[in-house]
Amino acid sequence: MTIALIVHGGAGSWRPGSDSDAINGTTAAVAAGRKILETGGSALDAAIAASVMLEDNPIFNAGTGAVLNFDGFVEMDACVMLSTQSQIGAVSGLQRVKNPILVARQVMEQTDHVMLTGDGALRFARVMGHVDYDPITAERRADWQDKKAKLQVAVGANGSGAMKIRHFLKSHPEYAGGTIGAVALDANGVLCACTSTGGVTMKLVGRVGDTPLPGCGTYASKFAASSATGTGEYVIRALATRQISDNVERGMSLETSIGAVLDGLGRDYDADVGFIGIDANGNTVGAHRTPHMPHAYFTDGSEIIAKMRA
Ligand code: GLY
Repeated sequence: MTIALIVHGGAGSWRPGSDSDAINGTTAAVAAGRKILETGGSALDAAIAASVMLEDNPIFNAGTGAVLNFDGFVEMDACVMLSTQSQIGAVSGLQRVKNPILVARQVMEQTDHVMLTGDGALRFARVMGHVDYDPITAERRADWQDKKAKLQVAVGANGSGAMKIRHFLKSHPEYAGGTIGAVALDANGVLCACTSTGGVTMKLVGRVGDTPLPGCGTYASKFAASSATGTGEYVIRALATRQISDNVERGMSLETSIGAVLDGLGRDYDADVGFIGIDANGNTVGAHRTPHMPHAYFTDGSEIIAKMRA
């Protein structure tokens, strides 16, 4: 049985000079998950291990290094889904924990629910032993101050900053935050998809993106599993990752399926999005509509391949 793992570090425009950090970070995440798969571990453990490495790496917009919302604090979303019995766990609007993806896994494994949000998610995380942790880095705080100043210039002192953010981010893609994701296939044929994010930069307090919504930012069926990145509002409207799996179920290749979903998102919204996925045969695909989407993958005994763009 084929094993495979693919991760992404967020679709967007990476600052010049940051390529090697993104390549090294995604490669290390695949290496961590690969060790688990090669020693007979589960897709769940592998995708979670890779996600934790990406969350702990401050260059990615998830966990440590997550972007700040409009008010200057961090609210994180995360989801894990398995192809077996549609098992799902998710958190949204979660503050002050180190690894939201671990909390999402505990929602799946320890509760009867699919998603916990806000204060309830935080209370659950503390009960599960996640201690108070500030994910804000000095770089992200400085970025936020810079964005706030530029946004005020962009919309004018009397403009409604919140309503103009989408327009602003469209013309300044270097400000759009990424997301992290990991998709794995284990030797038992189980597929797992994980996604974790601080969301889009300068989002309104309480905004929930595509990441924690099954079938939007994260989905796994027995045919294919995928993780989305980019502006979540578009991904939600398209039910994008569900579409990817459904197309494969109908006989499309994973590559064609992801291409078709990307084409639709381009046609309908000119969306700045990307996807990674694996099908039941271990085919891995990474594709995006942004200048960059750092991603890395391996299949069976292959070398780890890492790229800034597909
Ligand atoms: N795709 C991440 C977000 O929009 O929150």
